[in-house]
Amino acid sequence: MSRPLAPSIKEVLLSEPQIRRRVDELAAEISRDYADLNPLLVTVLKGGLYFLADLSRALTIPAAIDVMAISSYTGASPSGVARLLKDLDEEITGRHVLLIEDIIDTGLTAAYLLRVLRTRSPTGLAICTLLDKTARRIVHTLPIRYRGFEIPDVFVVGYGLDYRQRYRTLPYIGVLSEEPEAALPAGRSARAKESP
Ligand code: IMP
Repeated sequence: MSRPLAPSIKEVLLSEPQIRRRVDELAAEISRDYADLNPLLVTVLKGGLYFLADLSRALTIPAAIDVMAISSYTGASPSGVARLLKDLDEEITGRHVLLIEDIIDTGLTAAYLLRVLRTRSPTGLAICTLLDKTARRIVHTLPIRYRGFEIPDVFVVGYGLDYRQRYRTLPYIGVLSEEPEAALPAGRSARAKESP
């Protein structure tokens, strides 16, 4: 039985079954590519938690998980300035690290995370993103090895993605009825992470 849409969601972009199917496909690919490598799956709080939880449980190989938290502010002209609020618990030197992202938009956040992680000399460092908004990309050199869905330039929420800490817990990915920028103070982007 289908449940009613949350208020302010005008359409479902990706349904629960669509997400589940794609996550299973990605997990199968990762299980094949990382067999015997014991990868460390790293995500960023809080948005990536849902994807990480589902993806890691669908793997058929041993893997470890860890989380980071950052604060980033894009402002009127995106600077990509970010701050590490919570570091990894695990050492990553000599390990195969897969950065699990909920969404890559401009790519500035992922570029920052890669810079931080690369200084620790992992053996491998690649990205698995559930959503890819290529239209807004600023950083074009990201090592995106796995991509769930390419989506248009719309603001989406659900399955970990929020608008001002709301809608994360929706099981599907939906489009907000109003573009959130209109409701925000000048110079503050809805895409900035306010807190982990
Ligand atoms: P970036 O522009 O690739 O650095 O994206 C940074 C962050 O903005 C993502 O990790 C998300 O937290 C957030 N973000 C970007 N697009 C959306 C969206 O459509 N909905 C919710 N959050 C988004």
